[in-house]
Amino acid sequence: MVRVDHAGEYGATQIYRGQLDVLGRRRSAGEIRRMAETENRHLARFEELLHERRVRPTLLYPLWSVAGYALGVTTALLGERAALACTVAIEDVIDEHYQDQAEALDDSDPELRQAILSFRDDEIAHRETALAQGAEAAFGYDLISAAIRTGSRVAIWLSTRF
Ligand SMILES: [Fe+2]
Ligand SMILES: [Fe+2]
Repeated sequence: MVRVDHAGEYGATQIYRGQLDVLGRRRSAGEIRRMAETENRHLARFEELLHERRVRPTLLYPLWSVAGYALGVTTALLGERAALACTVAIEDVIDEHYQDQAEALDDSDPELRQAILSFRDDEIAHRETALAQGAEAAFGYDLISAAIRTGSRVAIWLSTRF
């Protein structure tokens, strides 16, 4: 769990890095920057957990670096709303993913469960922010959303195994 979550939060920081490199001076940049800061905090916490528990990071780290950044740049080039649509799609998948993990952990690991549930609240807030900023009005919203959801699920599957 720590491995896949660490990979996911790292991917999130790379996505926002890519989006901010394109949209850094636009109206939506403030919101994106705030979301990126939360992801940096999530990543730092999972990095701690990774070290404390001697968990090997995903072997796919270099892939998530490139894929996350590329996804950020691509969605941002499609426009501010597409960038926000990316957040909605990912946070939907992560909300479910963290929920499933918290349920699986139950009372076996309060420290990890607490981190996961608190981060899940942050991800839900990101989704709400992106929706409030007009994500669903993005051109090709359904297509972008479906593609990114599938991609995120594949990334979770891979990072759990490798
Ligand atoms: Fe996060
Ligand atoms: Fe998030």
